[in-house]
This record gives sequence, C-alpha cells and structure tokens, in this order.
Amino acid sequence: MSTLDIAIAGEINLDLILYGLPEQMATERELLASGFTITLGSSSAILAHNLAALGSRVGFVTKVGGDSFGTLAMERLRERGVDLAGVARGAKSGVTLILPHGPQRHILTYPGTISELRFEDLDLDYLASARHFHMSSLFLQRELLPHVPELFRRMKSAGLTTSLDTNDDPDDRWDSVLGEILPHVDILLPNEREAMKMSGADDVETALSRLAQKVGTVVVKMGASGAVAIRDGHRFSAPAVPVTVIDPIGAGDSFDAGFLHQFLRGADLATCLAYGNLCGAFSTTGCGGTEAFRDAARMQEFFRRHHAGNQAG
Ligand SMILES: Nc1ncnc2c1ncn2[C@@H]1O[C@H](COP(=O)(O)OP(=O)(O)OP(=O)(O)O)[C@@H](O)[C@H]1O
Ligand SMILES: [Mg+2]
Repeated sequence: MSTLDIAIAGEINLDLILYGLPEQMATERELLASGFTITLGSSSAILAHNLAALGSRVGFVTKVGGDSFGTLAMERLRERGVDLAGVARGAKSGVTLILPHGPQRHILTYPGTISELRFEDLDLDYLASARHFHMSSLFLQRELLPHVPELFRRMKSAGLTTSLDTNDDPDDRWDSVLGEILPHVDILLPNEREAMKMSGADDVETALSRLAQKVGTVVVKMGASGAVAIRDGHRFSAPAVPVTVIDPIGAGDSFDAGFLHQFLRGADLATCLAYGNLCGAFSTTGCGGTEAFRDAARMQEFFRRHHAGNQAG
C-alpha cells in the first residue's frame, strides 16, 4: 500500500508581504508599510503545506535554494510533516515581494530556483509511489515544461490519478505543451480567466464544456462566487463561504488542497467542491497562503462554524 496519498512536483519560495502602503507609490521616498509578513509562498509549496495540514500524506519534490530563505521555506513544510525525501538542492532562492495597496497589489518575483527544477532532478519511482500526482504553476517550470507531458504520461501508466492547476501563463500564450499534457490529466483546476484563456472561450460555461471534452473532471474557481465543476456531463456549482478577507493570496491553492484532500478520501464531487470553497475561504482569513493553516485549533473552529460536515483528518 502507498505511504503517500499525493506527490507534488513544483516550486518553493518565500513571500514577503508589506501591507498598508500608499496607493500611489512615489519613487525616491521612504514609504512606510503598516504590516509585514514573511511566509511560505509559491502555489506548489502552499498546496503541499495545506494538504498536509488537512491530514493528507504529502510528498513534495522541488529544487530549494541553498540559502537561509530556502532553509526557512523547508522548515515550514517540515513542521506540517510533508515528506521531503525527494528534494533537490539549488543555489539561490527565488522570492516574491507582494505589495497590497488599496484594491490593487504589486507582485514582484525573482525566480531563482523556482524555474530550475529539471526532469533529471525527479525521482520517478518516488513520485510513482504515491496514489496521486499533482503539478501547479506549470508555466513557471521553465526547465521542466518540455518534459511535463512525459511526466504525466508516466504517472498515469504507473496507475496514479493526476491533477493540474496551471495558474497564469506569464507569456499569455497558453499553447506550448498544454495540449499534450491534458490527455493525461484527470482533474483540471483553473480559475475563470485561466479556463477561458486555455480554451479560447469568451465565457466560463463555454470554457467548461470545451475543457470537459479533454479532461474528465474540470473545476473552475471563481473567487467570492465560489466554484463550478463538470464531470461526465453533469455540472455542479457551490457557493463561496462568506468571510472577512485579510488577503486572497493562495486562496486558489488552498481550494485545491481542500478539493484534493476530499478526492483522495473518495468523496463525491459536491463534497470536494464544498470543501475546496471552505479551505479557499479559510486561507483568506490569514496572511499569505499558509498562515491560517498553521493554527490547527483555529482551522477546526472555522470548519465547525461553517458546518463542513467533514472534519480535517
Ligand atoms: N472573497 C472570498 N470570499 C470567500 N471565498 C473566497 C474569496 N476569494 C476566494 N475564495 C475561495 O477561494 C477559491 C479560489 O479563489 P480564486 O478564484 O481567487 O482562485 P485563484 O485565482 O486560482 O487564486 P490564486 O491567486 O491563489 O491562484 C474560490 O473558489 C473560493 O472558494
Ligand atoms: Mg490559481
């Protein structure tokens, strides 16, 4: 029997978030923030962390920077019990500086090891020892990208189920190897914009039906409007959980964590969607993508209050 429920291959970095900066950021001035958080960032690592916090057995394969930022990021995953046996070492960590001000935010990233994970760094036997394989932030994986169709093909032929959250394509091209990957994907988890971009559709419903011709289960995240999904021609929707938002960073990754945690327990699609919305909403109540999930008592209380029906574990 597999010891890992899920293996995730992807990037790791810290997010540095400065809250309360002025809406107009003048140059050559000292601009003071009212709050600061240094926290685990990157879609793949946030997903690994939050899935483990929910109780799934997670293996995470990444290339980590050989500096103190890399050490701190790994520490955050270790705290949750994520298996890090397949991690490769690189040189300089990537970092993301997030500056929320007013309704907008600046997001500034230095990629570092984020884009340096290579096919040769992956222990395929380790990945295939899990029941399920997932990738996030597809287009940030510059080195790995040409090999991702082969990676998914191998995981499927080893008997794993698979999922993919592409996140944004910084080049806004949406072609590259995506068409070769989708036939090997069981669950696709885009947001509205990404679903429309990757299907060439002008509205979410058209995007859903086009993507459903290629992937068995398509789930589209819609922020404060919740999520919709389609499987075997049946369409499901689930409303968001109302919350007071601190920041939306990592809400999509936390949704993925909730959805996949239930999927791995054999839950039906409606339960997976509801739990995804619950975890996405919970993420917005803390700083960054993982701070809320570091407090197990607060998480259980939030789930109880919102009648999840399914407790973490
Ligand atoms: N304001 C909100 N109120 C309640 N729930 C929210 C809110 N924003 C996000 N969520 C929850 O989080 C999920 C994912 O959010 P969103 O649609 O923003 O994903 P995303 O764009 O992929 O996010 P990310 O930037 O993390 O990649 C939503 O489907 C919803 O369940
Ligand atoms: Mg996303």
